[in-house]
Amino acid sequence: MRFMLDRSIKKPMYRQLVEQIENGIISGDLSQDQPLPSERELAKKLQINRSTVVTAYDELEAIGLIVRKKGSGTYINTDIWGLTHKRVPNWGRYVEDGSFLPNLPLVQKLRNETDQKGMINLSSGELAADLLPNVQFARIFKEHVFDEHLGYDHPLGDEGLRETICKHVKTYKNMDVEPNSVLITSGAQQAIHLIVQCLLKPGDTVAIEDPSYAFSLPIFQSFGVRTLLLPVDQYGVNPDDIEALQRKYRIRMLFLNPDYQNPTGTKMSLERRKRILELSSKYGIPIIEDDPYNLTSFAGCIGPTLKSMDGNENVLYISSLSKVVASGLRIGWIIGPEKVIKRLSDGRQQIDFGHSVFPQWIANRFLDSPQFEKHVSNLRIQLRERRNALILALDSLSNEVTYLVPQGGIHLWCKITDEIDEFKLLEESMKNGVSFVPGRIMGSKSGYARFTYGKGNGASIQEGISRFATALRSYGV
Ligand SMILES: Cc1ncc(COP(=O)(O)O)c(C=O)c1O
Repeated sequence: MRFMLDRSIKKPMYRQLVEQIENGIISGDLSQDQPLPSERELAKKLQINRSTVVTAYDELEAIGLIVRKKGSGTYINTDIWGLTHKRVPNWGRYVEDGSFLPNLPLVQKLRNETDQKGMINLSSGELAADLLPNVQFARIFKEHVFDEHLGYDHPLGDEGLRETICKHVKTYKNMDVEPNSVLITSGAQQAIHLIVQCLLKPGDTVAIEDPSYAFSLPIFQSFGVRTLLLPVDQYGVNPDDIEALQRKYRIRMLFLNPDYQNPTGTKMSLERRKRILELSSKYGIPIIEDDPYNLTSFAGCIGPTLKSMDGNENVLYISSLSKVVASGLRIGWIIGPEKVIKRLSDGRQQIDFGHSVFPQWIANRFLDSPQFEKHVSNLRIQLRERRNALILALDSLSNEVTYLVPQGGIHLWCKITDEIDEFKLLEESMKNGVSFVPGRIMGSKSGYARFTYGKGNGASIQEGISRFATALRSYGV
């Protein structure tokens, strides 16, 4: 049998080889009496590295299709058909071929290694343990008896919690909403997934902020949705850029995080909000307003959300308790036109039959209590102090980095003055015991670092930046 490799396709060469041999066995083109070419011979013939052939043969051996006989060569397993009931599935292939893409390896590394002992975590986008309302939760458990029905919940989520969310968004965000327009989700993350999966189709074009949280999500590529990038400056995205993109392509959906944007920390100006809503109406482009940070405004200036300014049902609004209460609760919500909410809730039912009753129960009691307001006021003070600690620590790097000072949220976005490879810098930093998020994970431009000050305290932030400074200074030396 003649082996051939196609160098123009993305599939790794060892995998092409594995598949050819598998197909050769099935079709009978490869005889069980003849040895396969030796690794060296095949590598030479195909002009590839010997290790590529070794990897392919290793995989075929692991799944029982070939056997290596010492001193004699590599053969098709004669017991191949008898093997069928014993064969181990080729999990490696399944893992690589699934249509839902994995996170970038660096994102996985950050998740796995940032909480190692001794590491200072300036990368995880969540609140520090001492900022979570554990004491208030303990009091709720003491004062209330849990007597909910523990069956599958309402398709839109717990009715009581949805009513409380309606009151909450009226009080804090001046939004008039009915409980039937609210869907409880497992965080804002699930809300984004539901929107992509239920409202878009492969080939659609969406516009997202650059940099942004959305940029870091593989969901768009997994689903075959094309992303157009809108640069973010200190006032958010520029409406002129949206219009220019709309003229060139047809934007099916606009994803925006206008308040204390992740990662830049910027707040979109009122003027731009108005113009973006006008453009949305002019071209009929739905806006997904992702708003997990709005309540963290240090000055308590909870500016108007796009949703509250929208007179036309153009905005689908997402929020979450992750950045103001606790990320582990996994409580988020989507607010939008009833028919859209119904469609999304149907998708949600297909995934997991709705949200767990326990976190909804506790979230409802906390959101509906006077303790919530006190907690948020304290959180703002604490976050401002931690932001100040970060800025103070960055003073020692005034020639090496520049940044905008965030007025809310939990992230600070730093431009590193010298040209660097921030992935290498992260490696060096992690060796020094501190993690941050390299800019290229969140946007198209290199040379940036995202520091999250909400996850640490004054002392750990100070020490973390000192370790980062050591890594930065030793970089390239
Ligand atoms: C802008 C933005 N949207 C959504 C999320 C997802 O948050 P969660 O699913 O925890 O609510 C995050 C988390 O960092 C975020 O920053």
